[in-house]
Amino acid sequence: MKDCFKVHCVICDHQIQIELEPDEHFQIHHCPQHPDRVLVPFNENRNNRDYLLGIDLDQKYLLIDVLGKGQFAKVYYAIQKGAFQLMKPVAVKVLNEDRQELEKLFLDEAKIIAKLKSEHIVKYIDSGRDEKHKLCYIVMSLIEGETLSKALKRESQFHAADALHLIDQILIALEEAHELGIIHRDLKPSNLMLEIQDGKTVLKVLDFGVARPNANRQREETQGMIPGTPAYMAPELFKQYDGSVHPRLDLFSVGVILYQLICGYLPYQCEEGSDSIIAYYRLYHKKPKPLPLPKTVGGHVQQLIHQAIHIDPKKRIQSAKQFRQMLAEVLKVEMDQLHLQRLAQDRIDHQEITKKEDDLSPNVGDELLLVNETFFSKQRLIWLMTAGLIGALIGLGAHFLS
Ligand SMILES: Nc1ncnc2c1ncn2[C@@H]1O[C@H](COP(=O)(O)OP(=O)(O)O)[C@@H](O)[C@H]1O
Ligand SMILES: [Mg+2]
Repeated sequence: MKDCFKVHCVICDHQIQIELEPDEHFQIHHCPQHPDRVLVPFNENRNNRDYLLGIDLDQKYLLIDVLGKGQFAKVYYAIQKGAFQLMKPVAVKVLNEDRQELEKLFLDEAKIIAKLKSEHIVKYIDSGRDEKHKLCYIVMSLIEGETLSKALKRESQFHAADALHLIDQILIALEEAHELGIIHRDLKPSNLMLEIQDGKTVLKVLDFGVARPNANRQREETQGMIPGTPAYMAPELFKQYDGSVHPRLDLFSVGVILYQLICGYLPYQCEEGSDSIIAYYRLYHKKPKPLPLPKTVGGHVQQLIHQAIHIDPKKRIQSAKQFRQMLAEVLKVEMDQLHLQRLAQDRIDHQEITKKEDDLSPNVGDELLLVNETFFSKQRLIWLMTAGLIGALIGLGAHFLS
């Protein structure tokens, strides 16, 4: 059956109807008024147009649709043009036009993913700078699936056995990255994608945009900036952060994701319902205990999660390898129970979860933030001054009373 749909020019809205054969990915039709633009699928839901759609990046990649966007870049569904009219769908990440000063940092992501070979990490294809459009880009394999954040929104929570299998795939990716000294630093559900391959769910890690080698102090930090998404950032980043980058930072995020997959909510939540850096800074200073896990979660799984999200980095799981070993052990011990639970469709008590979500903010901050280190220094100074003032008042009081 032929696929029939409308394509248009994003500049002048010139439209035509096209028919695709089942094995055809795309047909190239140029706009008669704007010959350097290719007509792209018409999307009625998209109210704000993306004016890069239809351009031919470096005469090699046609930008056809938007797959996702972050703070500094956009990811496009694109067609890679090959010889003999070969057309291969790929994903192209393009640095925002107004953030070209980040070009070098942006291309570091290309260098990092080019080094990684794991089947659980998005594949690098190409990168470059299109001089005509003045755009910097990275070409990656197209993952035909959805982000874990989307799957989590739909499912609200995962069965423990499924969650553990997904986490194991993140850890396989991290084993390779950490071995090469690469720390991701922004692991969260929207930076993980699920693709069905031969009936199996394969997880892929993306967005190494703020990843850095653990050997060097990263550039942002020399400028006093720590990047991350507060809800998934290790507590030590909010405290006396010394700038060192360690695999434990990623393992904490993996623990939070595991907790979130099983429960549907986050382990540490700010009372004020805010997910800002300041709210997490205050929360972690109180040395919080994680929220209780549902009773249906087995003891071994509970223990694993608690060790993964331990506030104290020294008591946390230390390496991806150790995490994988512990996870395999848990799966072995609790296999029967997990299997029976799935058969019985023993879902986690929804009432308990809804109550918790009513009490605390359901809004998970999913935005990458750059934290200014001087913020922490200022906060520390305020604490010290307050403590000093209280001490002085007590001393004065004692002096007058005596
Ligand atoms: N290789 C890919 N295949 C399919 N979709 C992708 C791919 N890479 C990114 N995306 C989509 O684009 C979104 C943003 O990509 P990401 O690399 O996280 O960019 P940012 O650094 O702007 O957050 C992802 O959440 C995902 O939805
Ligand atoms: Mg991202």
